[in-house]
Amino acid sequence: EQDDMVPRPLPSALTFELASRCSTTKARAATLHLPHGPVQLPMFMPVATQASLKGLTPKQLEETSCRLCLNNTYHLGLKPGQKTLDIIGGAHKLQSWPHNILTDSGGFQMVSLLKLAQVTEEGVRFLSPHDGTPMLLTPEHSISLQNSIGSDIIMQLDDVIATTSPDHERIKEAMHRSVRWLDRCIEAHKKPDSQNLFCIIQGGLDLDLRRECCREMVARDTPGIAIGGLSGGEAKTEFCKVVDTCTGLLPTHKPRYVMGVGYPEDILVSVALGADMFDCVWPTRTARFGNAITDSGCFNLRHASYAEDFGPIEQGCKCICCKPDSEGGLGITRAYIHHTAAKETVGAHLLSMHNVHYLLNLMRRVREAIVEDRYPEFLRTHFKKLYSDNP
Ligand code: GUN
Ligand code: ZN
Repeated sequence: EQDDMVPRPLPSALTFELASRCSTTKARAATLHLPHGPVQLPMFMPVATQASLKGLTPKQLEETSCRLCLNNTYHLGLKPGQKTLDIIGGAHKLQSWPHNILTDSGGFQMVSLLKLAQVTEEGVRFLSPHDGTPMLLTPEHSISLQNSIGSDIIMQLDDVIATTSPDHERIKEAMHRSVRWLDRCIEAHKKPDSQNLFCIIQGGLDLDLRRECCREMVARDTPGIAIGGLSGGEAKTEFCKVVDTCTGLLPTHKPRYVMGVGYPEDILVSVALGADMFDCVWPTRTARFGNAITDSGCFNLRHASYAEDFGPIEQGCKCICCKPDSEGGLGITRAYIHHTAAKETVGAHLLSMHNVHYLLNLMRRVREAIVEDRYPEFLRTHFKKLYSDNP
């Protein structure tokens, strides 16, 4: 790992306080001080697309111990729209969320959601899903929207190509374009004293492209750095090589965010490779299909075998659902979730809270293991239980 040669004070609205480093892996524990309070790294950030986790109130999200959640510029920019956001005074006020918010820039969502999105040097062109009118999301417009949203961390607009794409020239073009778009984002950013702009490293699975992108992005000295383009079907060995190569070239004293990851296994390995921040829709999406995440693996509560199972989702879990009611929880049983998860939404909401709590608590245990310098042992024990137990 290399430190910045010349410390150059650029406007930043965060401080990164490194607490511990693992002696055998690249794992680190740190405190990230953001405008809406400190958060502990490594961390998982749940995705609240429409300014709420589907079906949960902000209070319920807070109850899971979440202090930094994701919103999407693309969704908030369409509804309620920039004018309303300006009148209300941003997304914190809109959703009465007193804690931190990170917004993704919108391009990735458009390209992945709308088949008709088209990328040019100007920006991302697409047809409005509301009325079909042609729209253009430029780096300047994305930053302007994120300035109106007022999120604590804002992301650059990037050109994202699936790592599985065979078009190497296009992957190379997307990497260079993402660097040019970062310059336009930095130029357009009106609130560097209260909002932290993160760059996003692209370059597919080509390690030389990734290295070149790291050099270019690091030179631009944003408060934090993301590794993008990895939320897909690439082989795990390729995934690990990209994360390992990038973290090796990034400054020690800045947060590193691997976007769109993911499964607990991928997060745990990425932490060992020196990554600090993760987000994914999976824990909440899978909850809506009736799936519970536990240390022993994932299981589906719609299965008939849970109809008369009066235990909690996970024994010993301290989430609001699993905690016995004598301890201030709801004392919810697997049978109740089984009964409600198919037709009623309450089962899905309870599972969402459990799953988000599970991931946040997993990260708390990860930090503890790093601080006590026993992260490799933690990984061995965790994976042994995961692959041997039945939930
Ligand atoms: N979410 C998951 N991967 C990415 C990425 O590469 N870029 C952006 N902007 N968002 C993402
Ligand atoms: Zn629970």
